[in-house]
Formats: sequence, C-alpha cells, structure tokens
Amino acid sequence: MGRIPATLIFILLFSSTLQITLCENVFLNSKEASQVFIRAKRANSFLEELKPGNLERECIEEICDHEEAREVFEKPDKTKAFWGSYLACKGTSLLRVKDNIKTLRGCIDASGECSVGNGVNYNGTIFTTSSGKTCQYWSSNFPHRITEFNTSLDDTLYENYCRNPDKTPEGPWCFTRDPTVRREQCIVPKCGEPWVPPKVSATVDGKAKYTKKDCLANNGLDYTGDLSVTMNGKKCLPWTSPKALALSKGKHFIPEIKLVTNHCRNPDGDMEGPWCYVDQHGNTTVDYCDLEMCDDPIDNYEEAAGGRERTTLSGPRQSFFSPRSFGSGELVCGERPMFEKISKKDGREQELIDSYQGSRIVKGIDAEVASAPWQVMLYKKSPQELLCGASLISDEWILTAAHCILYPPWNKNFTINDILVRLGKHNRAKFEKGTEKIVAIDEIIVHPKYNWKENLNRDIALLHMRRPIAFTDEIHPVCLPTKQVAKTLMFAGYKGRVTGWGNLYETWSSSPKSLPTVLQQIHLPIVEQDICRDSTSIRITDNMFCAGFKPEEQKTGDACEGDSGGPFVMKSPDDNRWYQIGIVSWGEGCDRDGKYGFYTHLFRMRRWMKKVIDKTGGDDDD
Ligand SMILES: *[C@@H]1O[C@H](CO)[C@@H](O)[C@H](O)[C@H]1NC(C)=O
Ligand SMILES: *[C@@H]1O[C@H](CO)[C@@H](O)[C@H](O)[C@H]1NC(C)=O
Ligand SMILES: *[C@@H]1O[C@H](CO)[C@@H](O)[C@H](O)[C@H]1NC(C)=O
Ligand SMILES: *[C@@H]1O[C@H](CO)[C@@H](O)[C@H](O)[C@H]1NC(C)=O
Repeated sequence: MGRIPATLIFILLFSSTLQITLCENVFLNSKEASQVFIRAKRANSFLEELKPGNLERECIEEICDHEEAREVFEKPDKTKAFWGSYLACKGTSLLRVKDNIKTLRGCIDASGECSVGNGVNYNGTIFTTSSGKTCQYWSSNFPHRITEFNTSLDDTLYENYCRNPDKTPEGPWCFTRDPTVRREQCIVPKCGEPWVPPKVSATVDGKAKYTKKDCLANNGLDYTGDLSVTMNGKKCLPWTSPKALALSKGKHFIPEIKLVTNHCRNPDGDMEGPWCYVDQHGNTTVDYCDLEMCDDPIDNYEEAAGGRERTTLSGPRQSFFSPRSFGSGELVCGERPMFEKISKKDGREQELIDSYQGSRIVKGIDAEVASAPWQVMLYKKSPQELLCGASLISDEWILTAAHCILYPPWNKNFTINDILVRLGKHNRAKFEKGTEKIVAIDEIIVHPKYNWKENLNRDIALLHMRRPIAFTDEIHPVCLPTKQVAKTLMFAGYKGRVTGWGNLYETWSSSPKSLPTVLQQIHLPIVEQDICRDSTSIRITDNMFCAGFKPEEQKTGDACEGDSGGPFVMKSPDDNRWYQIGIVSWGEGCDRDGKYGFYTHLFRMRRWMKKVIDKTGGDDDD
C-alpha cells in the first residue's frame, strides 16, 4: 500500500476540495471545547523564562530593534516568534508611557493566545465565527476563492484559525464554510479580560442530520397534497390543459396516480419527486415542486419506480432516450472504436473486472490514446483556459458538473457564449490537429435542484452542442447507466475509472499545482455510503456516492484539486460496454487526512435527463 502516486490522487481523487459545513449546524467539538478553558494570561512565558531583565529593559520599557532582540533570545526561532509578537503588539512604535508598557507586556506575554487591540497578534486556535459558522481553510479556495492575500506567503494563515491579516478594526475573522457568507468576525479572547465563550447551539449528532422530518417516502408517489407552485416559484399548469396533455401524450404514467387539477404529482416515478408542467417564455417545460424526499437506497428502485422499470438482462439493446431530441449514439455507446470494436482490451481494464471479484490497487497512469473517447474538455473562450472535464453521451449532448457552470461564491455563472467544448483530445495543452474537434454550445441546462448553497447536491448539467459531432476513433459516446448496470455494478469495492487533465484555474485549493501533459486515468473503488457519510461533516445525499481508498490504505498529502465534471466509468462484463456511473463532483482533502472523492449518482439523475432532453415530447420507455 501507499503506492498510489500522489500527484494523480491530487488531480483525480480530490477533485475539488469542498469543506463546507452545514450552515445551520454548529459543532462544538473537543478542540473547540477545550478553548473554553484557555486562560487569558499564561503565567510563565517569555518574561520569566528568558533573561527577563534584559527583555523587560530593552524591549518593553524601551524600543528594541531586531538585533537587540536576537541578543536577548540567542536562538533564531525564539527571536522570530518574539519578533512576530513584538511587531503585532506594536512594540517598535508604541509610546512608552505607563499604561502602554503594561499593555505591551500583556500582549507579548500572551504570545497570541489572546488578542490585543485589533487582534493582529492573535495566534490562537478558534475557528468559529460570531454567528457560529466554521471557518474555511486558508489554503483552500472552497467555498470562497481567496484573492485578497497570497496565503502561502503569510505563515500566520494556517489551518482555519481566525486571524486578522488585513488589520480589520473589528478584530480576527475568517472566510466561512457557508457558501452564502464570504467572511465574518470571530469572537476571540481579549488579553486581560475574562473570557466568556460565545454561546453556540448544542452539538449535532452525526446521524441526526440524516433524520428528516416531513419527508415524502417512495419518491412522493403517494403525495396527495395541494401544492401547485414549483421550487422556482412557477405556477403549475393544469394536467388537463392542452399544453400539458400534449406533453403527456404517449408517456406511460402510473394509472393509480390521480392527476388533480394543477397539483404537484409524480405520475412517472421521478426520483426527484412530485413535479408539474409550467410555462417558461412561452414554452412548456417541467419543474419540480419543493417537497423533501426521504432517503431511498438503491435496493428500493423496484418499488420506487412503481415496478415499471423493466430489467433487460438479455435481448436486443433498447434505447432510453428519444433519438429525435437526444441525437444518435445511444445504441453504439460505450464500445470504443480502438478497443472493443476491434476486440482489443486496454492495458488496465482487467483491473476493473478483477475488482468485481476481489480487489487490488493500481496506480494512476497516462491514459492510452483513444481509451476514453467520450472524454471532453470544457474550455473557456476568453481568456482561454481549461475549466472542467465533461463527457460525450450522444452526438448532440455533453454531461458535466453543475458547479463547472454555476458557482455564485466564485461569481461563476457561465452562459453558452463563454464556453467551448473540445473533443477527441489526449494531449492537454497542444492543439491536436486532425483528431481534435472544437464545438460551440447553444444550450446549458443546470439541474433545477442543484444545491450550491450547501453540499453540491445534484451536481449535474447538460450542454447541447450547436452542431452534432461525427463519431471517430477518438470521439465516441459513453453509455448512461441502466437500472441493470446500477444494480449489478454499484457495489462497495467495485472499481471505476476516472479520467482528467486536472484544471489549473478552477481549483478548490489556493496553492499552485502542476498539470499532466496527457489525459490521466486512475481506478478507484466505490465506498460504502455509511463510510462516505462518516468521513465528512458535509451532508451526503443519495444523489452522491463516494470512491477512493480508505485513509489507512494510503497517504494522501494535502493537495485537493482536480477534474470536476469528468466521468467515473465502469465496464459492464455483461455487454462489454463502458457506462458512466458518476460525475466528478467534489472531494475533501485539503489539509485533512484521507478523504474520498464524491460523485454525482448518474443513475438517479437519468429521469431528469430524459425529461429535459425529451422536452419536446416523444415516447417514454425504459
Ligand atoms: C503561533 O502559534 C504556532 C503554534 O503554536 C507557533 O508555532 C508560532 O510560532 C506562533 N506564532 C507567533 C507569531 O507567535
Ligand atoms: C504566492 O506566493 C508563492 C510563494 O512565493 C508563489 O509561488 C505564488 O505564485 C504566489 N501566488 C500568487 C497568486 O501570487
Ligand atoms: C422556446 O424557447 C426557445 C429558447 O429555448 C425560444 O427561442 C423560443 O422562442 C421559445 N418559444 C416560444 C413559443 O416562445
Ligand atoms: C446566472 O445568469 C443568468 C443570466 O445570464 C441569470 O438569469 C441567473 O439568475 C444567474 N444565476 C445566478 C444564480 O446568479
């Protein structure tokens, strides 16, 4: 073990460090709790340990310079620590009158555990803001991108402790892990004053956040309420209106579900719950209603879909999407021209198949040419830069992570004019004449329930290409998961393959990184959902799964960036095709010990995908 190359792990596994926490929850952990007992003043520090006479005389009562301080302390590290506090406590400028000398002594004596004045001297370990939010790591760009300082140049900015690097008069502060609140003051002990820790709400137990109240079981199939407004505030159209009827035509709705006036209902077993038709700029479309669904483990799919989803163990391949709106590619998906089509295996795929029996670890490597012909590069037009990974699912549609398109804390809200997609690529930076195709897009559809405010739930977006792309040896679509594939392959320990080039500018970490020359791939095992949940303070939903190696299996390092939006694929031994199971969504890793990468659970998103892709109607078939 411990053989996973660090760089690849950084690039792929910890695709995007996400260190959000629930904004409404305030954790008082043991570290924090212990701060309650900090004494504002420590009895024996600099003054008594070290030539107190000299220090007192030369640096407290008088102003000393660095050289004089060095003579007092003799050792460079002690001098450095002292000099830092001395400057922070304004030791070189404070007028030496009685009160000031007392303050200065108190300030230096506290050596940063309590704050003096505006608290630039504060060097304690409080990491909670005045309203109880947890602080963001200084070395991370998540959720807020730090542009004000070069945090790697300021060695007081470490972990996620409250500091005052910009000398704000209100005292120490931090960026918060709540994506909707950029920065906030902290309450830290003040030197010479009694310390009353701020009141925080009671500890929330880990399991409690998964206990939902008022949730709808069974994907809301049984919902009979009278809600008739969608989560976007749109009024539902009556189910019997001509527009709604036109769109429902040919759809196999569950007959037992009564469609009452314009009330939200779930007649097609959508995993996102009750929905309705709404008017949008003269077009009729589908929108979801704001109702909370209970958790719905994969074993319940049979019931959840009303027993309607057929299992196709054998027989001819059937399409799920209507080719009219999806384009072509569904029937030929997942069979690579340079491999399956010519009965060739790539050098590493056996590893995946082996993991379906037992596990071995393989390290990340350069991908073989044309071994991931569905890999797409999401590219910003101006200035030109690699934004994210993505994947080709038909000759018209591309799949990526919603946060690659929309992430308000970073002021990111791309439109069709900001983005290009590049297909058929292997080399990251070179223009690959002959094999590469660059295509414009004319539609971006972000999942309407994508939750950037909390946990990146439903991190998925669809991009429509302006012109259909011709498939080649290097450009070929991947299959979307069928129920059969989800049920037989999504097991803990089974490995998937993640590919990507790493992204330079859109990383969750604030430290610079190096990028690979060619497409990288790594094989990672799916992890039990309970272990995923226990590994993070972020609320994990059924729309996510996690993959990677258990913390004890490897050393992770502290980088944490990667290839958001790219595909997590598995090869089905049943039909020898490649299926995309997940979208690289987020990971924890920055400054934390081994954490897993999180992926959007594509199977759970496919009804939504079908709805928006087939929005002009068409037959509904599994
Ligand atoms: C702040 O605290 C850290 C850890 O306790 C210590 O290593 C560092 O020297 C301190 N810095 C200053 C300026 O006191
Ligand atoms: C921050 O400082 C480090 C170390 O000097 C440097 O490598 C890096 O480029 C700087 N980053 C920025 C954004 O200026
Ligand atoms: C439907 O939406 C498209 C854009 O997606 C727009 O161009 C068109 O005008 C809309 N149709 C109507 C009837 O407004
Ligand atoms: C993103 O931009 C579009 C217009 O380009 C706007 O309608 C939408 O409200 C923006 N979304 C957010 C969350 O800022």
